[in-house]
Amino acid sequence: MSPFTIAIDGPAAAGKGTISKAVAAHFGVAHLDTGLLYRAVGARMLRGDDPIEAARKLEADDLENPDLRTAEVAQAASRVAIIPEVRAALLDFQRAFARRSGGAVLDGRDIGTVICPRAEVKLFVTASAEIRARRRLAELLDHGFDTDFEAVLADVKARDDRDMNRADAPLRPAEDAVTIDTSTLDVDAAIAAAIAAVEARRAG
Ligand code: CDP
Repeated sequence: MSPFTIAIDGPAAAGKGTISKAVAAHFGVAHLDTGLLYRAVGARMLRGDDPIEAARKLEADDLENPDLRTAEVAQAASRVAIIPEVRAALLDFQRAFARRSGGAVLDGRDIGTVICPRAEVKLFVTASAEIRARRRLAELLDHGFDTDFEAVLADVKARDDRDMNRADAPLRPAEDAVTIDTSTLDVDAAIAAAIAAVEARRAG
């Protein structure tokens, strides 16, 4: 198979991470969770650093911080994600990753629209806000965080709003993206739908 880039975008907690990992494993290509880059910059901002400087100096170690999962960091991520200089500082790393010779899966908000507009396959993974909040709640409780449904739903909605309405690289499906609504799909069915969509695109 020739090298190819798979762009997977969608709103907060839509299941992009799970699907992206499984798709990357299935096709034997590398995976980059681009949300981690913004979360790492957001975490630095919460510690008092300037977000633009933090984005320019981001290191691999910054992505290992276990606190990056928290809702507080997620909110900070979506705030720094509005800043054009932050997005610009993270662009080259993402594009270089996408061009790996073995092919790559990148997941985020603007992969199909801005980072890799020529990606061979683009998926837009979505689900209702309530379902996304329920799934994210289970994930956070599983990791030992103390939170509740209302708080998680509020976080998801606030980030969706900020992500969709920012001027620079707003969240929206690329024109040639295949949309997968996972509201009524379990994990296995969502992964199967994503793999089928990739195969259909590559065959066509
Ligand atoms: O895992 P979840 O979907 O909740 O969020 P994430 O993918 O880790 O992204 C955290 C935040 O980073 C998002 O709410 C966006 O504001 C921002 N982000 C972005 O602007 N562009 C990307 N390519 C990825 C994330």
